[in-house]
Amino acid sequence: MPLLEVKDLRVNYRVYEGTLKVLNGVNISLEKGEKVGIIGESACGKTTTVKSVMRLLASNAKIAGGEVRYAGEDVLTMAKGRLRDLRRKKMSMIFQDPSAALNPVFTIRQQLYDIIKFSADTRLSKEETHEGALKYLKEAALPEPERILDSYPFQLSGGMKQRVSIAMALVSANELLIADEPGTSLDVTIEDQIMRLLKKIVEEKEISVILITHALGTVKNFVDRIYVMYAGTIVEEGPTKEVFNNPQHPYTQMLIKAVPKLTGGGVPEGILGQVPSYLTPPSGCRFVTRCPYRMEVCDQVPRMYKAGTDQKAACFLYDEGHRSK
Ligand SMILES: Nc1ncnc2c1ncn2[C@@H]1O[C@H](COP(=O)(O)OP(=O)(O)OP(=O)(O)O)[C@@H](O)[C@H]1O
Ligand SMILES: [Mg+2]
Repeated sequence: MPLLEVKDLRVNYRVYEGTLKVLNGVNISLEKGEKVGIIGESACGKTTTVKSVMRLLASNAKIAGGEVRYAGEDVLTMAKGRLRDLRRKKMSMIFQDPSAALNPVFTIRQQLYDIIKFSADTRLSKEETHEGALKYLKEAALPEPERILDSYPFQLSGGMKQRVSIAMALVSANELLIADEPGTSLDVTIEDQIMRLLKKIVEEKEISVILITHALGTVKNFVDRIYVMYAGTIVEEGPTKEVFNNPQHPYTQMLIKAVPKLTGGGVPEGILGQVPSYLTPPSGCRFVTRCPYRMEVCDQVPRMYKAGTDQKAACFLYDEGHRSK
C-alpha cells in the first residue's frame, strides 16, 4: 500500500465571478521513503494539491471529487481527532515564506516548545521539552540554539527563519514532509544551503518527501520521481532522469527548454501563451490552447498513456490510434 495516494482529486474555489475549477482530476502516489517532486508554472495548482493533502485548504475551496488516502485512510473525510494525530506525528509542511509560518508575537522558544508538547504522547517536563527543542534546532543546523530560542522571528534572517520552520516541521514529519517552495523567498546561495540540508535530513531519517519548486536544477538532484502539472492536471510522471532527459508531454518539453542552461545553451525559448482561465477551462486537454501538436481528439480529456522509457503522459500523441509522430 502506498504511503500517500491522491486519486482523481478535483478542487474548486468559489470567487465573486463564479467557480474556479482548479484541480481537474489529480493523481499522485508516494511510497514510503520515496521523494517526489511537483513542477509546473505558477498557478498550475501545486499548492492547492498539497494543501488538500494536509486538509489546509482555504475556506472558499470545495473538494469536488476524488480522494486523499494516507496509509489507506481517507484524509478528506476522517474525523478531526484522527487528522490531528496525523498532523502531530506523521506529516508536516514547510511553506514558501518562513515568516508566514512563524507567529511574529511569540519567541521561537514559545512556538517550538508548543509544537513539541503538542506532538508528545505524554506530558513533558520543562527539561525534556528544552532538550527536544535543542535536538530539532541542531537537526536544522542552527548554531547558537539558546539565542535562537530567545529570539522573535523578526530578529532572525530569512535563512534562519526557514531553518526554524524546518525544525518545527521535523517535530511532526516522522513519515511525510511536504516542502512547498522552501527556498524560493531566499537568495540563491541560501536556497541552495536549505535544499542540501533538507535532502540530508530526509535521507538520514528516511522521511518521504513531496517537494514543490520552480528551481528545476534543485528538484533534479533531490527527488526520485517527478510529476509535471499543467493547469490543474498531471500531464507527465516518471523517474526524474527520464523526465529531464527525455520529456514526453509537449508541455514538459517546453518547460524544460524554457530553463536557461547553466552550460550556456543560448537563450531559453520560453513558453508561448498563458495558463487557461479556471472559470472557463477547455473541456478536453487543458494544454490544447498552447500545444503545437493539437489534434481534433484533444477536445476530449486524455488519460495517462505509457510514454518514453518509463513515463506516463496525458497526451493523445501516445494513443496508438492518434500517433502521428
Ligand atoms: N483561496 C483561493 N481562492 C481563489 N483562488 C485561489 C485560491 N487559492 C488559489 N487560487 C487559485 O488557484 C490556482 C492555483 O493556485 P495554486 O496556489 O495552487 O498554484 P501553484 O501552482 O502553487 O502556483 P505558484 O507556483 O505560484 O505557487 C491559481 O489560479 C490561484 O489564483
Ligand atoms: Mg504554490
